[in-house]
Amino acid sequence: MPDKAHYGLLKGKKGIVFGPLDESSIGWQIALHAYNEGAEIAISNVATALRFGNIDELAGKCGDAPVIVCDATKNEDVDKAFVELKKKFGPVDFIVHSIGMSQNIRKQMPYEELNYEWFMRTLDVSGMSLHRLVSYALRNGAINDGGSILALSYIASQRNYWTYSDMGDAKSLLESIVRSYGPRLAQRGIRINTISQSPTYTKAGSGIPGFEQMHEYSDLMSPLGNASAEECAEYAVTLLSDLTRKVTMQNLFHDGGYSSMGATIPMIRLAHEALHDEDLARRVDLEDYKPS
Ligand code: NAI
Repeated sequence: MPDKAHYGLLKGKKGIVFGPLDESSIGWQIALHAYNEGAEIAISNVATALRFGNIDELAGKCGDAPVIVCDATKNEDVDKAFVELKKKFGPVDFIVHSIGMSQNIRKQMPYEELNYEWFMRTLDVSGMSLHRLVSYALRNGAINDGGSILALSYIASQRNYWTYSDMGDAKSLLESIVRSYGPRLAQRGIRINTISQSPTYTKAGSGIPGFEQMHEYSDLMSPLGNASAEECAEYAVTLLSDLTRKVTMQNLFHDGGYSSMGATIPMIRLAHEALHDEDLARRVDLEDYKPS
């Protein structure tokens, strides 16, 4: 098999990745893989992330990539980011949105008692920011015809995951923005999609209460097992390349088959054993999770 780094799938292309923080970040892996596939890369994040993350290291690994400070919830920042990008770099062929954050999850607020200011912030940071990035990229002529726009989602946009809280609502918004933009961008041959990724150990991911258990459960429920951030980046590269020019307005599952499974043998066995284990039954009160 040829070396993964030598397909040259993105040779001659330029792109910007919003949201790499450290090596665990999905955005970090996408930037690195895109660079290794021949793309010229720019990187962006908020100022605090530049201070606390390892973004300079990533920039070094991506051929001294320009780093652009931008809070994706602020119109002026996003506008300036695309002006700067165009000046330093020229218009890009792809934009990756790898941004997400919920203060309600961080503070473990029950869904019934969400802080609404934080809820608005979750929707803004994790959903509406995609709209803003696309809007200002278009206004500034910073994306080329035939380009590709990609964001990261999670299956909680469509199904209930108790602890994913208001992020599930934000992901529904994100996926809807993708559909609303689709035909408009298509007039210039630009496509827009989300990848719905397996639970992945990152800063944002592991902040979710019970993440370890969710990760284990998801792994047992996925015929191919959970997908890693690196594997997500490999898939992302195909969506940024010319091999997927007619794929648009899709939410593409990258989850080892999880989203199509009903039950798996290991999960049925584990549940059966657990339900008949009196010690365990005493520790986990199943009645808590049934309607009263
Ligand atoms: P991460 O914590 O490495 O990346 C999230 C990034 O969002 C951080 O770099 C953070 O600085 C940035 N960010 C937060 N507020 C921002 C703002 N106002 N403006 C610009 N950037 C801002 O975590 P991860 O997991 O790599 O997250 C990337 C994307 O992948 C997110 O959309 C997340 O919801 C999604 N995703 C993550 C999964 C997981 O289990 N980790 C599963 C499925 C999707």
